[in-house]
Amino acid sequence: TASALILGFESSCDETGVAVVRCGSAGVPRLLGQALHSQIQMHQAYGGVVPELASRDHVRRAIPLAREALRAAGVGLKDVDAVAYTQGPGLAGALLVGAGVATALAAALDRPTLAVHHLEGHLLSPFLSADPPQFPFVALLVSGGHTQLMRVDGVGAYEMLGETIDDAAGEAFDKSAKLLGLGYPGGPALARLAEEGRPDAYGLPRPLLHQPNLDFSFAGLKTAVMTTLQKMGADPSDAARADLAASAQAAIVDVLVQKSIKAMKATGLNRLVVAGGVSANRMLRAQLDAAAARRQWRVHYPELALCTDNGAMIALAAAMRWQAGLVQPSRAYSFEVRPR
Ligand code: KG4
Ligand code: ZN
Repeated sequence: TASALILGFESSCDETGVAVVRCGSAGVPRLLGQALHSQIQMHQAYGGVVPELASRDHVRRAIPLAREALRAAGVGLKDVDAVAYTQGPGLAGALLVGAGVATALAAALDRPTLAVHHLEGHLLSPFLSADPPQFPFVALLVSGGHTQLMRVDGVGAYEMLGETIDDAAGEAFDKSAKLLGLGYPGGPALARLAEEGRPDAYGLPRPLLHQPNLDFSFAGLKTAVMTTLQKMGADPSDAARADLAASAQAAIVDVLVQKSIKAMKATGLNRLVVAGGVSANRMLRAQLDAAAARRQWRVHYPELALCTDNGAMIALAAAMRWQAGLVQPSRAYSFEVRPR
């Protein structure tokens, strides 16, 4: 594996990402180049991701983006030693495109493939930051589909501490945003509107906050946002909408921060890694940084551009798993995806 070059494809949802990483003999693999195309504009007219359109767009983008990533990395196709792809979870058709393109390329090049779990990509993405974490750490994984707290002792050594029993944190952002008429994707839009509102304007529920376990529940929040909106009447003022956005964000962030603190105390660890789309949220970062400063903990995040889906985290996870001896690249050239 030392100095092996890995080309990685991400296509689980609405971003096509391709990246090239170089394995080291030890330590963190190096990102040499990447290319990304977001389908957000295409799906915006429908208020959410349309799976069939997503698949078709991955088909259009995959090869051109691979060329772009290789050019950015300053390497050629023939230099690639293994091809990685996201196996799941995600949209079945979208996953099949990335897996199919990656496998076909690998077969044509006579190189092996590596299948990657999308969430492991997110989890390891902070290793590509200027300030990479060290094991062991607690991980808060907050994406559109998942909300988990984990104890991480090394690559592949993950222990689940708690997770959501219903909606994910990103989903809570997205659904609240939709109710407020903010469109898709809701998270960044809600966060933007929240900047103009008062986070304590409405006392929205914080389910499971005072339970001793490390589980989350966000389904009640959208109901509370809906009933609050109904009480505002037909035409709420901009200020009232901003207050509600700020209050919804505060409720989500509050629960994420308090449960993270609980997980840090339960494990006795002093490093926290936050990853997934919601790790881009400024309020979440500010509150976790403040909580950590008081207790002399370290908090690590992915670079802002690597918080949401991208190819770099997939190539990286493949490289780290291979380097750690946890997987061997395969030349079977048959592939399956795991949407769930
Ligand atoms: O990790 P990701 O790109 O895709 C999944 O694997 O799900 O995460 C997307 C999620 C969406 O729910 C999006 O609204 C949320 O991350 N998100 C944010 C922010 N940026 C993205 N939520 C809150 N604040 C943000 N700044
Ligand atoms: Zn993701």
